[in-house]
Amino acid sequence: MDVKAIRGFNDVLPDEIGKWQYVEKAAREVFEGFGFSEIRIPILEPTELFSRGIGEATDIVEKEMYTFTDRSGNSLTLRPEATASMARAYLEHQLYTFDPVAKLYCIGPMFRYERPQKGRYRQFYQIDAEVFGVENPMVDAEVIVMLIHFLNRVGLEKLELQINSLGDRSCRPRYREELKKFLTSKSFQLCEDCQRRLQTNPLRIFDCKVETCQAAIADAPKVSDFICSECQKHFDKVKEYLEMAGLTYILNPRMVRGLDYYTRTAFEVVSYQLGSQNAVTGGGRYDNLFQEIGGLDIPGIGFAIGMERLVSLLPKEKEFVLRPDLFVAALGEGPFKEAYRIINQLRLAGVRAELDYESKSLKSQMRRADKLKARYALILGEEELKKGKAVLRNMATKFQEEIPMANLLETLKDRIQQNP
Ligand code: HAM
Repeated sequence: MDVKAIRGFNDVLPDEIGKWQYVEKAAREVFEGFGFSEIRIPILEPTELFSRGIGEATDIVEKEMYTFTDRSGNSLTLRPEATASMARAYLEHQLYTFDPVAKLYCIGPMFRYERPQKGRYRQFYQIDAEVFGVENPMVDAEVIVMLIHFLNRVGLEKLELQINSLGDRSCRPRYREELKKFLTSKSFQLCEDCQRRLQTNPLRIFDCKVETCQAAIADAPKVSDFICSECQKHFDKVKEYLEMAGLTYILNPRMVRGLDYYTRTAFEVVSYQLGSQNAVTGGGRYDNLFQEIGGLDIPGIGFAIGMERLVSLLPKEKEFVLRPDLFVAALGEGPFKEAYRIINQLRLAGVRAELDYESKSLKSQMRRADKLKARYALILGEEELKKGKAVLRNMATKFQEEIPMANLLETLKDRIQQNP
């Protein structure tokens, strides 16, 4: 076959999908338990939403967006993230008139034209949660507590929570100037991209992977030394609330995050089992985003979890493949028809039942039952059918028993309960 998927775009195949569904179900349960509601937003948005929201001088907007002009001449972009779209929806539908505080989550694909490698794709999925309308540092801690609770609930361990404060509009400009002054003295060490970033957005130099740039930034002034007393107070409260919730964190004064909308609290959850793309989650507060996209002065905070990275960290021993409860092996025409009647009845009663459409030999039908990892097999022959009986086989223990067909559903439920 010569038509293949686009580089960096992945299929999630049936043997993997159980993990995705498990994670999504847990996210819905945990987030809804914390008072969040789901929102579904379009995959395409006006390009301006992201250039204004994420920032013109970020890698995402400068070189990673899938942007095109539609047939009416509008510039549209496949969403590279969900926060700006969720903020747009909140403003557009005036959700604040109902309640200024909105707790929203969204699950879906994002698109960035990055160089694909393990853990980095051009279409990837995020689970995103946002709280709009609260400035109180308690909510910063609340979203982090929810995040860590969720990650632990799906079985992730050995994670590191890193936090930092990035200051706000009143204190960050001074830091930016200091950083620029410092890096100008080292500009000969900077790569071509960073030479440009030095003029447009010097904070982005922290994210550059080029060794000489990393060396240049090693002794750079830290944002934490420049934040104003209001930002410091806010950050101290966030830390206090995290400690009250029993969470441990690492202060990472070099974490600046790759999007320009962040103010004050920024955080990442990293796993050292992931290799170079080690961030499972990134998030933070963005108190100016709403104004940037032309809205009211509304604070916000949230995070996005990378699904592919999360799924790759799930415990290896856990079973995610959907298994049939029962495989009906029928021998002969009469039993085959009876099998069809039984599986319909069982499926309506919520039992996951399968049969072999080809009605081959018993051996090949049992091979299929094994391949599908069926818990039980029901062997139905002409003789048994006449007597109103069938043989139920526990596929794991190989124990077989003859059971009356009239009680099949009850017997099966009982056996499954005993051997889940
Ligand atoms: P981000 O750090 O760009 O933040 O992405 C969040 C997470 O998405 C990353 O930690 C990573 O797990 C995953 N991710 C990002 N890019 C890729 C990729 N190319 N391939 C695979 N996974 C990827 C945001 O997107 C912000 N909107 C997060 C946020 C929400 N901040 C506040 N609210």
